[in-house]
Amino acid sequence: MSERLYIFDTTLRDGEQSPGCSMDLNEKIRMAHGLAALGVDIIEAGFPVASPGDFEAVRRIASEVKGPRIAGLARARRGDIEAAAKAIAPAGERGRIHTFIATSPIHMQEKLRMDEASVLAQAVASVKLARSLSPEVEFSAEDAGRTDIDFLCRIVEATIAAGARIINIPDTVGYMTPDEFGARIRILRERVPNAHQAIFSVHCHNDLGLAVANSLAAVEAGARQVECTINGLGERAGNAALEEIVMILHTRNDRYSIETGIHTEKIVPTSKMASQITSMSVQANKAIVGANAFAHESGIHQDGMLKHKQTYEIMTPASVGWRTNRMVLGKHSGRAALKDRYAQLGVSIKSTQLDAIFSRFKALGDKKKEVFDEDLLAILHDDNSDVGERISLISVHVTSGTQGVPEAAVTLAIDGQQHSATGRGDGPVDAAFKAIKLLVEPNGRLLLYSVNAITLGSDAQGEVTVRLENDGRIVNGQGANTDIIVASVQAFIAALNRLPNTHAKEVHAQYSGV
Ligand code: KIV
Ligand code: ZN
Repeated sequence: MSERLYIFDTTLRDGEQSPGCSMDLNEKIRMAHGLAALGVDIIEAGFPVASPGDFEAVRRIASEVKGPRIAGLARARRGDIEAAAKAIAPAGERGRIHTFIATSPIHMQEKLRMDEASVLAQAVASVKLARSLSPEVEFSAEDAGRTDIDFLCRIVEATIAAGARIINIPDTVGYMTPDEFGARIRILRERVPNAHQAIFSVHCHNDLGLAVANSLAAVEAGARQVECTINGLGERAGNAALEEIVMILHTRNDRYSIETGIHTEKIVPTSKMASQITSMSVQANKAIVGANAFAHESGIHQDGMLKHKQTYEIMTPASVGWRTNRMVLGKHSGRAALKDRYAQLGVSIKSTQLDAIFSRFKALGDKKKEVFDEDLLAILHDDNSDVGERISLISVHVTSGTQGVPEAAVTLAIDGQQHSATGRGDGPVDAAFKAIKLLVEPNGRLLLYSVNAITLGSDAQGEVTVRLENDGRIVNGQGANTDIIVASVQAFIAALNRLPNTHAKEVHAQYSGV
């Protein structure tokens, strides 16, 4: 009989802490529904005390998303714990407070300026308070990887005695190696007298590329909850990637004999959803969810594949949700088929959104023969019907070519008013961006501009990501269109809409020089 591993997804909390990855309320709710459909056991929905927006997102997810447990993060402080308790309350018995305090010497001395005794006392008091306000409590010893093992044993024992049922051991800075980290979990389970009363959990960061390996070493040592994120999103180099952990356990069940509740065929759609919502593209050679993960290029490999698929494939593309028949709908398909296909992709379309999305689907069907899943997810991005963006594109027209200076005429609606400008630049995209900069401020510093063809063929939609920085705030925007200039302008506008206080410039010159 296989044992069960609980998958704790922190895409909406640690994942959202990746630079430029912040999501708005509707995006978080959409992502949470996708995670529930994927079959995760726990969704860490956010850090309620961090901002009113975070609080509201956790509260809405706790009331709307059925199935998984809903966790809210809280430092080991009364205000944090009370805010988390209020935010997760609508989840009832499925609510969990996840409280943490740092336990490594460097964090205690330099960050908290507290000694071991006060950290231990604060951890115990916080777990007791959290337990009085929520049905389930998880305690994390932040930077447990670099924590003195004797102190770690003492604080784990005390927090279990105070009522924590899940003990999380984070490798906060991604410093551990698999053998060391596995040994740490083994020591805790052997030395802490009440260890059997808790589920041990791990939360590994990927600074040295070892997050997945360390998580698996911990599972071998008896951890039964793994904290992870879709596409490995997260602080700095990210967290352990959910899709990798799950597929290792699934593909090598002969070695681990551990099951998860994940519906593996939903992995790729959920990955695409996360990438679209956060505007963080997935690298092509990323395991499981990268575009090349099942592509066979060399003649020898192709020959082997034709003779027997298992020569070069250890799992089938279909088992993780890559569709072999990738053309899903055409321009003659109806609303019901469209809605149904979105449901299969893990996206529930509200009836108020359907008309707008359907007309964009038809417009795309007129432009390209085949409409793929990627196209369907991309057109969701343009759906501002319940978002109310301040800046939207009315029109863009460019002239460019081998002669003359590229020029772009752009008309935007900004706070309901129409504004137009013309820009010149090094190419049509540069010209269009310069025109937009004449109309909007602040308009940020361009940190990243990247273009991907999201499906095959010269009529493919181009997907553009733009990353802007203003006043230390980093935001991403994405656009997708068969016209790459339009996609670029949409991405720029999407990023501007995420910068605080963007507004129309009072006076703008007609041209911005090259
Ligand atoms: O990396 C970390 O230590 C964390 C904790 C809050 C669990 O994210
Ligand atoms: Zn973390």
